[in-house]
Amino acid sequence: MVLKCFRKIHELWSFQGLAVKSGRNVKEEDLSLITDGAIICKEGVIEWVGKDSDCNSKVINEIAPGAQLEEVFFKDKIIMPAFVEAHTHSIFAGDRTQEFELRIQGKSYQEIADQGGGILSTVKATRETSKKKLTDLTQERVNRFLSQGVGTLEIKSGYSLDEKGEVKLLQALKDLKGPEIIATYLGPHALSPDMPKHEYQNLILQKILPHIVHHKLAKRVDIFIEKNYYDIEFARNYFSKAKDLGLDIVAHVEQLSYSAGLPLAIEFNAKSVDHIVKMKDSEIPILAQSETTAMLLPAADFYLNIPYPKARQLLDCGARVAIATDFNPGSSPTQDLSFVGLLSRLAMKMTFPETLAAYSLNAAFALGQESRKGSIDIKKQCDFIVLDDNLSSLFMSVGHHPVAEVWLAGELKYKKS
Ligand code: NIG
Ligand code: FE
Repeated sequence: MVLKCFRKIHELWSFQGLAVKSGRNVKEEDLSLITDGAIICKEGVIEWVGKDSDCNSKVINEIAPGAQLEEVFFKDKIIMPAFVEAHTHSIFAGDRTQEFELRIQGKSYQEIADQGGGILSTVKATRETSKKKLTDLTQERVNRFLSQGVGTLEIKSGYSLDEKGEVKLLQALKDLKGPEIIATYLGPHALSPDMPKHEYQNLILQKILPHIVHHKLAKRVDIFIEKNYYDIEFARNYFSKAKDLGLDIVAHVEQLSYSAGLPLAIEFNAKSVDHIVKMKDSEIPILAQSETTAMLLPAADFYLNIPYPKARQLLDCGARVAIATDFNPGSSPTQDLSFVGLLSRLAMKMTFPETLAAYSLNAAFALGQESRKGSIDIKKQCDFIVLDDNLSSLFMSVGHHPVAEVWLAGELKYKKS
C-alpha cells in the first residue's frame, strides 16, 4: 500500500466550510484556509487534511499501518479544489460563425432558429460526423477545460435528435480522457427534423430512455422547456419516466420566456434548474428552500444580450447557486471559466467566495457529486489545482488562468509548460 502525502502547502484552500452549509450563505471563512497544510491520499481518495505539523507517523499508521509513503512537496504553493464545470454542450461538429454575424446585425436567437439555423444547423453537421471524429473534436475542448483546472466536466448530448445519433454521442463521451466526464442525455433539445413532435416524444419515452439506462450511457437527463421547443406537459411525462428509470433530472428552464418549467422541475426534485433568466420573483423562495441547485449561465446571457438572472436575490434568500459556461456553438461559444466567473461577480454581483463556491462544491451538488467532488475533504476524490498566482487573482481578468498543475484522484494530469 502506498499513501501519497502532499506536504508543506503554503496556502491550502480546502473549501471544507462550504459543505457544512450545503453551499448556501457562503462567507469568506467557508473557504477554510489552512496555512502550511498537508493532504494524505489513498488510492485517489483523500484520507486526511490538516496542518503539515500534524501530519506525523501516528496519523499515517491510523490510515494504513505499515504503508509506504510517497511525499510531494508544495512549498510556497497555493492549492484549491479543482473546478467543476457542470453544464456544457461540448460534443458537436460544425460551427455557427455566420449565425453569430446575423445576430450582430440584429436577428434574434429565436428568429435564426425559426429559419432552420440555431441548434438544427449544428444537428446537421453533427449527424454527418463519425463517432471517432466527434471524440477527437471533443477531446480538444476537454483539454482546454482541463488546462483551466476543471476536474469534473458535464457534457450533454442533444445535437443529433434521433435514437442512433444521440446514442453515438453518449458513446463517444466514454472515450474521453482527462477530467471525470459526467454524461447527460438531452434528446429533447430541439424538435426532431425527421418526424412529428409527438412521434419523437413517444420514441424518447418508450425507447430511448430505457435504452440509455440498459446500456448505462447516462445517469441523468435534461430537457429544453421553452416556447416552440418542449412544453411542461411533455416535461412531466419525461420526468416521470426518468424518475421511474432511476435517472437524475436537470432542465433548461425559463431561458428565453417563462413556461413554468421551474416549479415542475422542483416538484420532481431536479438536481438543478438551469438558466432561470425569466423566473418569477415569487419562485425565488421556493427554489431557495428546495434541494435543487440554481444553475446560472451568465456567458449565454451575455452572448444573447438578455438580462442576467437574479443571482443576488437568490443568494440572499439562501439558494444554492452554481455557475457554468454553457459552452455550445450557438448561445455560448466560450469555454472560458474566467469570463463566467467575472460576469458572475461584475454583472450578477456575486461575492468572490460565492463565485468560488458556485464553481466548485455547488456545481458538484448540481451533478449529484457533492460527496465526491468540489472541496478538499476526507473521503472525497483527491482533485486539486496548484495556482501560480494568488487565489484572489481569479475571476477578475478575462483569460487569466493561474493554473500551474491539475491533480486528479491524486495523479498529475496537467502541468503548464
Ligand atoms: O443552453 N437553450 C438550449 N440549449 C443551449 C443552446 C444550444 C445552441 O444554441 O446550440 C443553451 O443555451
Ligand atoms: Fe445549455
